[in-house]
Amino acid sequence: MPEDKKKFRSASWFGRTDKDGFLHRSWMRNQGFPDDVFDGRPVIGICNTWSELTPCNAHLRALAERVKRGVWEAGGLPLEFPVMSTGETNMRPTAMLFRNLVSMDVEESIRANPIDGVVLMCGCDKTTPSLIMGAASCDVPAIVVSGGPMLNGKFRGRDIGSGTDVWRFSEDLKTGKMTQLEFTEAESCMHRSAGHCMTMGTASTMGSMAESLGLALPFNSTIPAVDSRRSVLAHLAGRRIVEMVKEDLRISKILKKEAFENAIRVNGVIGGSTNAVIHLLAFAGRVGIPLTLDDWDRLGRDVPTLIDLMPSGRFLMEDFYYAGGLPAAIRALGEHDLLHKDALTVNGKTIWENCKEAPNWNREVIRDFENPLVAHGGVAVLRGSLAPDGAVLKPSAASPHLMRHRGPAVVFETIEHYHERILDPDLVVDENSILVLKNCGPKGYPGMAEVGNMGLPPKLLERGITDIVRISDARMSGTAYGTVVLHVCPEAAVGGPLALVEEGDMIELDVEARRLHLDVPAEELERRRASWKPSLPTMKGGYQQLYVEHVMQASEGADLDFLVGCRGATVTRESH
Ligand code: FES
Ligand code: MG
Repeated sequence: MPEDKKKFRSASWFGRTDKDGFLHRSWMRNQGFPDDVFDGRPVIGICNTWSELTPCNAHLRALAERVKRGVWEAGGLPLEFPVMSTGETNMRPTAMLFRNLVSMDVEESIRANPIDGVVLMCGCDKTTPSLIMGAASCDVPAIVVSGGPMLNGKFRGRDIGSGTDVWRFSEDLKTGKMTQLEFTEAESCMHRSAGHCMTMGTASTMGSMAESLGLALPFNSTIPAVDSRRSVLAHLAGRRIVEMVKEDLRISKILKKEAFENAIRVNGVIGGSTNAVIHLLAFAGRVGIPLTLDDWDRLGRDVPTLIDLMPSGRFLMEDFYYAGGLPAAIRALGEHDLLHKDALTVNGKTIWENCKEAPNWNREVIRDFENPLVAHGGVAVLRGSLAPDGAVLKPSAASPHLMRHRGPAVVFETIEHYHERILDPDLVVDENSILVLKNCGPKGYPGMAEVGNMGLPPKLLERGITDIVRISDARMSGTAYGTVVLHVCPEAAVGGPLALVEEGDMIELDVEARRLHLDVPAEELERRRASWKPSLPTMKGGYQQLYVEHVMQASEGADLDFLVGCRGATVTRESH
């Protein structure tokens, strides 16, 4: 083997002349590889979350073939491997329960195998963070290739968006503005091509986070799934990962504090999902970067939301791509001194080199700083007696008239309790009420489901009221909207103050002051605490037990405590 090729990790599998080398190569030869693929060239794992149960990722096998073209062309050996796939729409009790499990699958698959660099095939919400987390804990060269957003939904002459219009339609159905027939017809109009949600939901947000962290090639987050330029990007990513292995451009060289700060600001500009808060905290934990909830507030506070996309605005990802895509949005940040311009990206260039000349073709979709969609976008981190360790709210998706509000709590102990009560015509609730939902956090649900944007009681909808304050320890879908306080920490299931809220308690929300206050005297709360009992899920054994015992709070990224950190890719022992 030539000296220059011996240096890669895979050489300790394939580059040997002994019995073990025979074992590693001989079985691989059953796939029809010629001799010289074992000559010490970079071996590229293509980590695929393809699954027919994850509709957003169902096209990723075809896209992986494009990656392989690029890998072969650059002189690498591509080897595709599956990992568990987490689809938002089908998995119960929530795909988020399995994010950390998939990250273990990814980490262990990379480390155990002769892989020098990895292409992460992501799409649906959790698939992106779990693959990045797993690769980060091995610290190998890695590049994200997203499946891309679906084409715009089209229904009765207008554009409709994943998720966002489902919430709207289901309220219209409740109030009779829409018939059951129309509601059913909309199903096939909303999701009509391969790809993930085409709103600025969590999938588009996490694609954008990967791109702004520097983990993906420019335009990875915005090119529609079915646009031929997505195939080109996959092809180029295949070429590039081979070079990254030769340059030893490992993930830890990209995921620096500056990269996280850039991503947080980009999240403000795009009006991104609150789920990004949890995922970025978890990434930082894997690579040992100190990042906190307060960083989110500090960095995102002055960032205006410029991208006019649902759920905050009007347009969809297809429009965003044609308008110039994420590079145009990043350029706007850089021109206003809100970007660490030297942050390195996977193509070997800085983020500023990639974005400084990006054109903006449509200033309705990618708005200017002088004419933003929301002046103070970002994510507001709230604290106070109801959330000592923090809670979050997305101002761009909230109602201005509710940003400062005091009202009586309507309390739901569990999600079942909510479903039981919310349709009750005798429920005492009006536009001043605050809906409070407990036991939906990481340990409580378990998995922290996207139930925080509780639908409003029909009797309010009938009066034309479309938003009231809602508070919970749950998450909400990135496609959802409303004045919704999420991720309350500590969660109710571990005895956070949220657990002690009773019907009629007065709660004060002041987003400008970043305050969330439960207006109940301390002595009264102590009295209630004396009779409080934890209501942890009853499932014993299996992954759920491991998860509930080890999951950290949302304010710490909701990772499993023993998965925090980077363990590297070294394995010293052979298998035979
Ligand atoms: Fe998969 Fe929205 S459901 S991205
Ligand atoms: Mg979701």
